[in-house]
This record gives sequence, structure tokens and C-alpha cells, in this order.
Amino acid sequence: MARILVTSALPYINGVKHLGNLVGSMLPACAYARFMRARGHEVLYICATDEHGTPAELAAAAAGKDVAAYCAEMHDVQKRLGEGFRLSFDFFGRSSSARNRAITQHFAERLWANGLIEEVETRQVYSPIDGRFLPDRYVEGTCPNCGYEKARGDQCENCTKQLDPTDLINPRSAISGATNLEVRTTKHLYLRQSKMRERLSAWIESKTDWPLLTTSIAKKWLNDGEGLQDRGITRDLSWGIPVMRGAEPWPGMEGKVFYVWFDAPIEYIAATAEWADAEGLGEAAWRRWWREDEGAADVRYVEFMAKDNIPFHTLSFPATLMGSGEPWKLVDYVKGFNWLTYEGGKFSTSQGRGVFMDQALEILPSDYWRWWLLANAPETSDSDFTWAAFQAGVNKDLADVLGNFVSRITKFCRSKFGEAVPDGGACGEAETALAAELQTRLDACAAAMEAMEFRRAAAELRGAWVAGNEYLQRAAPWTVHKTDPEAAAAATRCGLNLIRLYAIVSRPFIPDASDAMLAALGLDAEGLAWPSDARAALDALPSGHAFTVPDNLFRKMEDSEREALEARFAGNG
Ligand code: 2FM
Ligand code: ZN
Repeated sequence: MARILVTSALPYINGVKHLGNLVGSMLPACAYARFMRARGHEVLYICATDEHGTPAELAAAAAGKDVAAYCAEMHDVQKRLGEGFRLSFDFFGRSSSARNRAITQHFAERLWANGLIEEVETRQVYSPIDGRFLPDRYVEGTCPNCGYEKARGDQCENCTKQLDPTDLINPRSAISGATNLEVRTTKHLYLRQSKMRERLSAWIESKTDWPLLTTSIAKKWLNDGEGLQDRGITRDLSWGIPVMRGAEPWPGMEGKVFYVWFDAPIEYIAATAEWADAEGLGEAAWRRWWREDEGAADVRYVEFMAKDNIPFHTLSFPATLMGSGEPWKLVDYVKGFNWLTYEGGKFSTSQGRGVFMDQALEILPSDYWRWWLLANAPETSDSDFTWAAFQAGVNKDLADVLGNFVSRITKFCRSKFGEAVPDGGACGEAETALAAELQTRLDACAAAMEAMEFRRAAAELRGAWVAGNEYLQRAAPWTVHKTDPEAAAAATRCGLNLIRLYAIVSRPFIPDASDAMLAALGLDAEGLAWPSDARAALDALPSGHAFTVPDNLFRKMEDSEREALEARFAGNG
């Protein structure tokens, strides 16, 4: 039994995530965690909301709320949506936790002590009326390039030109509107990533099993231009982790907080500590996942994320961990994803284009989304969500193949043999051939899951469902029953056992349907391990084992419904 730590990129707090965000990190991480648990491994799957930074402050202000209250509310919303999608987090924490504050400050102290943090004097916009330095985005004015009057200090939204706040014409504070802005000297901390270039490079070179997407992005950042840049890790915001060296104040850094990208990945560690706290476990319980000197040397740590997050996870976060000089666990495998597009374009919150997690659950239960998204995950290239593809996938795979199989065999058994696994003749060649095909399919599915290749895993699982349908079609117990009830009983028994088998192997993808199948068979998910022997699995339920006919597992999406959804989510842009 291995110990596997799984994390998925922390969803940012400023709103409900869309289907692309879901399939780019949390959903595949959940499927992987569920699969590894079914294989008997000790798995800890950790995620959290990423709560600091300017976008959180701006979203709270737009909602007319205090930022702490806004984050608490949005955390609950995201947590509930995670539950709705059956995301199997062992813990869903918050980067604004006291644990993250202490651990982030600890890392800052270690990096400082090791000469990896530099204090840099910078010139920055100060607003006397607001009594604070303004982050670039908090300065607004007229774009010198296109004349747009609401350009932000970091970029003009209208012409996309990258800007410096001092470029703006008629600059004003985005907080108060004050125009008497000054440029003052201040100090910021920089993480000296450049000093760690060789160490990071050697570490990445040693990861020969990493996917191409991950290593190509990491190497590009390592080697492009002048190579790995030092990075500012502090900001002039009030919402965030105060800049301290451990528990000590940091002279000259009063009123500043760490940059959100500095503390966010540290939350993977902190959320594990939050998990231990919530479970009433001691310090050792979380440290055995993260400290190599306290048990984590045996842990395999896998991270899931979309490709834009790869540089932070392959360079910046490892630089923080390595730079501490302490034996923290580094990631073993970084699974990156490309983009999911929506009907050929981008998902857009502002234009209401595409489907967001809350809307999805109002339309159909989570299994439908889980199945389609995993079966079409943007692994080797971007993939496109279209309602037509979604409708075809769920109608065919879920309703016609799996749902129909379960309904047909349980109803047939009830009508001819009653609601218990029938006695009957021994299994024959047809069942042996089926078992051989299932074995091949399930081994391939398991290998794909181990490799985190979800499209391939879904295709093999679908193949196992199809094999059962074809078997039943050939064995035709409903016809055979008239002339050879023994053979019909054997096929029916085999069919009922297939439901049990499907419930187990489909669980990482469609956990609710798995529950429904198990409930129909009077079984509990607890202790049901991934089947190593398909032939034996076809005999697992003894004759006389009671079952009930479940409600239809899946419904079909009609064309008219699809058309209405296409129109509803097309966006207003
Ligand atoms: O890209 C994002 O949405 C970030 N919130 C991901 C953070 S992942 C981790 F580092 F915390
Ligand atoms: Zn402009």
C-alpha cells in the first residue's frame, strides 16, 4: 500500500468556477484519488480556496461586502458546489487560515535566513487621501495609447496595452477617486529565484516521467530570456498575510502583505494542517505527509492543474520549499491540462458565456458532467465543450449503454426469477469469453488511471460497459428462457454480477450511479476494492442474494432541451 498525496490547484475565491476550471484540476484529481483509494492505497486529497490578492478585494467591493465576509461566503459556496460534484476532498481549506499565515511567515523567515529574499527599493504611487500605496490595478486613468478613460495601472482593458501606473493620463485612485497622487519610495521583498536556477533545473531534468506539457512549460520559464527572474513577493494590500519573519515583525514592511501567489501554494501544506486540526489529530498527522524527516519520504505527491499554473508549481513553489533548507516534500508528478473551450470560444464570466458549476447542477446531476468532462478531458490538446457532443455522449454512453443494461437485466430477473440472484446452470464459454474481454478492458482502464490519462481510462470503461451489453444481447436470456431456463438463469446471474462490477470500476467517474447500483444490490461501497480477477467478479454474488430494481440511472437529453441550452448559454457578447 502506497501513500499518495493529491492536490488540485486552489480555485480562486472571486466567483463560481466554470466547467473548464473543473476539468482542468479538481475533477481529474478527484477521479484519481477515488481510483487510488479503490486500489487500497492511503490517499489524502487536499484542496482549498485561494483567497488573497487584489481580485478578492475588488470582487468584495463590487459586491458591497467586507472582504473577509465575502471570502467566507464564497468559500461556503465553492465548498457546497464541490460536494454537489462529489469531489472527494479529504479537506477543503482556506488560504486565509491561521495555519497558512503561520506557515507562510515561517517560509519567509527561512528564505530570509538563507539569503534568498532581497529587500528592494521601488518607486510607487501613494495616495495621501487613502493613506496607502496603491497597487498597479488600483490606479485608474486615461490610456495613453487609445484614450480609454478607465484604463488600469497594469493594463488597458480596451487596447490590452501593458501599462505602468505612471503612464496613465489623469491618474486617480480606484478606491477613493483621489487625484492628488504622489510617487514615493517604498520597499518590497523579492524571492531570489535566479539563485536557485541550477538546483531547479537539475530537479526538473531528473523528472523524466513528467508529461511533455509540464516539462516544456517549466523549461521555457527556466531558460527563456535572461532565465528565471527574481520575483516580488509582497504587495501593498490590507487583505493578505502580513509580512513577518516567522513571528517577528519585518522592519520597513509594516502594512504590507505577501503576494497571493507566494502564499497560495503554501496553503497545500497549511490545508493539510487544517485537516489534521479538523479531525482532532496532532501535528504528526499532517507532517507525515509533508516532512521527509517525519514520514513523507514514502509519500508520492501528485498535483493537478491547468497549464497556466505550471510555472508556479514547477519553479516558484519548489523554490520556496527548497530554499527553506528544510526537508519539505516536493511534488513527484505534475499533471497539467490544456483548455476546455466552450462552443469553439472562451468561457466568459462577464459575458455569461459557457456553463458554470452552479448552473450545471441545476440542469443535470453531477454524474452526467463528470462523465462527459473526464471522457473528453483536455489532456494532449484543448478540447471543446459543445451541447451536441455532450448530448451525444451522455445519451449514448450513460443512458443507452450503462443505464439500459442495468434496467434491462434487473427488470428481466424480477419478472422471471424474482428479486434475488437466480440459481442456475454453470457459466460456460460465453461468460469465459466475456471475462477475458473485461479483464483486458479493466487492466487497460487501471493502467490509464495510474498514468492519469482520463480519456483513455474512460474509453476502456465504456468498452467494458459495451462488452456487457453485447454479452447480454448474445446470451438473450429473455429468448433462451423459454427453452432453457437454466442457461437463462446463468446469464441473468452473470448480468447481475456485472452490475456489481460496473459499480466498482465506474465509481471514480460516476459515484452517484455507483451508489445507486450498489444500493440496488444491497451492497455498501465500504471495502469494495478494484477487481483484480474479472472471472471471479462474475461469480461474486451468490444465488439467493436479494436486489431491487433501481430507478433509471440516467435520462436522455432531448433535442429541444439541447437547443434551449445552446441559446441560454450563448452569452450576450
Ligand atoms: O489560477 C488560479 O486560479 C489560482 N487560484 C491557482 C492557485 S494554485 C495554488 F498554488 F494555490
Ligand atoms: Zn488603451
